[in-house]
Amino acid sequence: MRYAISYVSTATKSLNNQEIENILKNAEVYNNQNDITGLLLYSEGNFFQIIEGETEKVNFLYKKILNDYRHKDIIQLFKKPIKKESFDGYKSDFISEDARYNISRLQNYQHYIEVLDKPTQKAVSNILRAFLV
Ligand SMILES: Cc1cc2nc3c(=O)[nH]c(=O)nc-3n(C[C@H](O)[C@H](O)[C@H](O)COP(=O)(O)O)c2cc1C
Repeated sequence: MRYAISYVSTATKSLNNQEIENILKNAEVYNNQNDITGLLLYSEGNFFQIIEGETEKVNFLYKKILNDYRHKDIIQLFKKPIKKESFDGYKSDFISEDARYNISRLQNYQHYIEVLDKPTQKAVSNILRAFLV
């Protein structure tokens, strides 16, 4: 069985941009090698993440993420089974000042949320919009 977990969180204050880039890059590499798919975005001090995959793998990873000192105030948005096989791989992005206000980026992320049911896709789109503008 596959399922998806999504949350938002706040980065620990002391993190610099390089440390954030490292989190994003390492997540992308590890997840792509381990058949975990979804999306991890960072913008203005906040993370938004979806992880999707086999139950044990997702649980194992999520436990590690929950215990990671590099972020706090983790608010789980949903945790639900997924019918379709997978997202398109794993994607991480740092939304810098320059990249903000660029709503067309929303389309780049659309196919990473297609396995979700329609109402959840809508909710995620709204959250992404808030991240992007
Ligand atoms: C916001 C955030 C998201 C993370 N997402 C992932 C992820 O998707 N995949 C991953 O392997 N590690 C992710 N990590 C890092 C994990 O918490 C952990 O450091 C990593 O899995 C290595 O754990 P290990 O040294 O116990 O093997 C994330 C960390 C943070 C702070």
